[in-house]
Amino acid sequence: MTLSINNISVDILGSSILKNINFQTNKGEIFCLIGTSGAGKSTLLRALNRLQSISKGEIHLNGQSIYKMTPQSLRKSAVMILQTPSLFEGTVEDNILFGVKLNGSYDKTDSKTVARSLLEKVGLETKLLDRNASTLSVGQQQRVSIARAIAMKPTILLCDEITSALDPQSTLHIQELLVTLKREEKLTIILVTHNMDLVQQIADRVGLLIDGKLVEVSPVNEFFNNPTTELGKNFLSTIA
Ligand SMILES: Nc1ncnc2c1ncn2[C@@H]1O[C@H](COP(=O)(O)OP(=O)(O)OP(=O)(O)O)[C@@H](O)[C@H]1O
Ligand SMILES: [Mg+2]
Repeated sequence: MTLSINNISVDILGSSILKNINFQTNKGEIFCLIGTSGAGKSTLLRALNRLQSISKGEIHLNGQSIYKMTPQSLRKSAVMILQTPSLFEGTVEDNILFGVKLNGSYDKTDSKTVARSLLEKVGLETKLLDRNASTLSVGQQQRVSIARAIAMKPTILLCDEITSALDPQSTLHIQELLVTLKREEKLTIILVTHNMDLVQQIADRVGLLIDGKLVEVSPVNEFFNNPTTELGKNFLSTIA
């Protein structure tokens, strides 16, 4: 078990946004969090790395309460990747090495080799290392942001609609990359998406969030073929 979420709720400005959420993730699992717009998916992801405070409940990462970790060490272990790649000014190499430095194992003598191998891992040509990051396509930038994330040697990736700004080809690249990271790095990945084809291709399990409640958690095939809840059936009928 990597992440364990026990009975958490989030209230914002007097409104109940998340209600008694419970679930666990396994090491090397892709857990897709789906649900209608405004259901609370992004709020839940943000709670998992303390960008959003919770009003009750407990969250453990690798057996340790995330509230006993510093936000900095938590965010190296549970790395958030967003819809729009958030690269900073500088080269692709600068951006990737930022992740390596945060990981604490930065060795200037072989930093170029490390940056090169991370770039290869995400399927980009190493000649891009010296390019200014802002000159890359959005799809390439998203892969650089994933390279920077894995440079931190995280336990878990928190991905919020990371393919929704991408064309189908780039989406496919990211899809394949996530599966590779799960298999080779044993990363746990929580993926928020509205793309049900993507969910069916890569999820191990699916969590359905409706109106702040996690109403169903099922293995992906079960969810799409035979959802166990009425709300799951309703959700599938609205997207069919
Ligand atoms: N800081 C905030 N102040 C007020 N309301 C907020 C705040 N953050 C989130 N909310 C509300 O919480 C609810 C859940 O928002 P959230 O962004 O988590 O939804 P979502 O499931 O990610 O939706 P989408 O699929 O559109 O991204 C929404 O009603 C939103 O307006
Ligand atoms: Mg959202």
